[in-house]
Amino acid sequence: MNEDTYALELPKKTYFGIGAVEKVREAVKVLKVSNALIITDRGVINAGLVDTLMKELSSTTVKTSIFDEVEPEPTVESIENAAKSLEKTGGIDLLIAVGGGSVMDTAKCVNVVAMNGGSILDYEDDIKNPRPIRKLLPLIAVPTTAGTGSEASIWAVFTDTKRKLKTSTSDPKLIADIAILDPNMTQTMPPTLTAATGMDALTHAIEAYVCIYANPITDAFSVQAIKLIAENLRTAVEDGENMEARANMILASFMAGSAFSNSSLGIVHTMAEALGGFYRISHGITNTLILPHVMEFNLSANVEKFTKIAEFMGANVAGLDVNKASKKSVSAVKVLSRDIGLHQTLREVGVKREDFPALVDITFKWANESGNPREVSKKQLRELYEKAY
Ligand SMILES: [Fe+2]
Repeated sequence: MNEDTYALELPKKTYFGIGAVEKVREAVKVLKVSNALIITDRGVINAGLVDTLMKELSSTTVKTSIFDEVEPEPTVESIENAAKSLEKTGGIDLLIAVGGGSVMDTAKCVNVVAMNGGSILDYEDDIKNPRPIRKLLPLIAVPTTAGTGSEASIWAVFTDTKRKLKTSTSDPKLIADIAILDPNMTQTMPPTLTAATGMDALTHAIEAYVCIYANPITDAFSVQAIKLIAENLRTAVEDGENMEARANMILASFMAGSAFSNSSLGIVHTMAEALGGFYRISHGITNTLILPHVMEFNLSANVEKFTKIAEFMGANVAGLDVNKASKKSVSAVKVLSRDIGLHQTLREVGVKREDFPALVDITFKWANESGNPREVSKKQLRELYEKAY
């Protein structure tokens, strides 16, 4: 028996199910709060999702204000802008994030800055002595994509445009206190966003499953997430009204988020974040374009787990030796991303080959600390960018 010990950090409470958003009334009672700032973006407002939440809150004594200027892939400046709004409002004792990863990550970063002072850059994971995060307001996360799994994760990702760098801050306290997973809140997501965010969740599940910090608990989450995504993402993209597919996708996103938050990720995310710092391409898309190539590179590090991924994704591996069987995981991922209509190459989304040396430098700095199951050299990283091109 393996004698390692593991720790598991999750939201204190998670509500799941169609109509679960009504549980926000119970959540504010549990947290004993009276003055909430709802953090969201215009798209979520226009879809009527904040109205749904406000309707539930109207029967409570909680006062509400709204900040709806979250940008996609939040920058240092947009976080500062949101933090100012929180300070101006005054007396806030709860944050409610209603949106996708950008909204949830903005809410986390705003919480850090507003409650602990300074700039979000003072808390960056990659600096020598990041400022400690001592206190935070309670956070309720209501994801409207499926998704980043940010509600379950210790990380908040942001972009420093001056350095062309996507970076992060992390702390177990950044996990949402309460997560409300309501498939109804994802129903209006258009097909392309459903596809891209679903592939982000798949990337989390696969990277968490094969990374060197995987453990039996995170494996359980990863395996279930991979199966649910393989079985439901196509339907969720083709028929957004299919609530069974929507429910399974939001569940998969949460499970994949819980998996990587308690283990780690790998060089798909390192490469995707480097690309995200250079180009305004959504995180789900960059992951989709990189994932199969890194899987192929990583196969030899764990053929057994990659063979299982192939099986979970519905590939027939009967009678194949493990090397051939494990390769089926790569083709299954490629077929899925093609079926749901996503781009297949970096070229198609405007990435320029002349940026590869700089991208390789940034990626190399973090790739071998990412938890990836195989060490990678600069030359190999360059080859991976070339293959994805
Ligand atoms: Fe991700």
